[in-house]
Amino acid sequence: MTKPMIERTRDALRARVAHWRAEDETVGVVPTMGALHDGHLSLVERAKAECDRVIVTLFVNPTQFNNPDDLDKYPRTEESDREKLAPYDVDVLYAPTVDQMYPTGFATRVSVDGLTDVLCGAHRPGHFDGVATIVTKLFTQTGADRAYFGEKDYQQLQVVRRMATDLDLPIHVIGCETVRDPDGLAMSSRNLRLSAEARAVAPALNREMRAMARKLHAGRLASDLRAEATERLLAEGFEKVDYLELRGAEDLELHDRLIGPGRLFAAAWLDDVRLIDNIAV
Ligand code: PAF
Repeated sequence: MTKPMIERTRDALRARVAHWRAEDETVGVVPTMGALHDGHLSLVERAKAECDRVIVTLFVNPTQFNNPDDLDKYPRTEESDREKLAPYDVDVLYAPTVDQMYPTGFATRVSVDGLTDVLCGAHRPGHFDGVATIVTKLFTQTGADRAYFGEKDYQQLQVVRRMATDLDLPIHVIGCETVRDPDGLAMSSRNLRLSAEARAVAPALNREMRAMARKLHAGRLASDLRAEATERLLAEGFEKVDYLELRGAEDLELHDRLIGPGRLFAAAWLDDVRLIDNIAV
């Protein structure tokens, strides 16, 4: 068990990757903002199983936070993240500084149209531009063959897929199933910010979504179910429901009835923390 070596600069990272390439080794990347939990570690495990070399990136990307307070409060736990990675034999933890990623004069933005107009894109202006820009840089800096993303951020996964296809980036984007706590709460670095009381209430979100999925299968309308579920979530202690919507699994088009493979998406505030989740229906 060795903690991964840290690289802080793009050039040092590239030099390392060049050695691997000279040996014909395949490279996987797991992009993260740190505060690693079992969801991230499941991505690392999959990357290790499928690639000769694995890079985990750790960068709290300022351009994807539309709220400065959220950026300030985002957990920064590099040393314990490194320890968590030790059992996985990760080759490099790439943890660049903000100046490395956004040097003076930086002026480019990657923006994906359409998919980003809805859900989190509608509620967090600029968020997906920040994600698409940093992920493009992480793909080009690492030169990885395969990249691993959790389905918990399902819209992000679709945006990254679109971006990689449209920009002809030679990388295979792989989505991995959401990892949940035993009570159904989707694992997230933000869960760390919930008080004990709020943590006990939080699984209601996934419970409501699963109940809604069953009722959609029985022919009920998403708009009616949304109103009922929202009322119950507010009664349980959630402060606000940003969205609770049935959409097409790939195009993210809004539907009121289940007519094909769909996805139910939710974002709700609890204890001043914005929780998101999605399930297949
Ligand atoms: O999902 C995340 O943690 C971030 O959005 C990502 C993909 C690492 C980009 O900063």
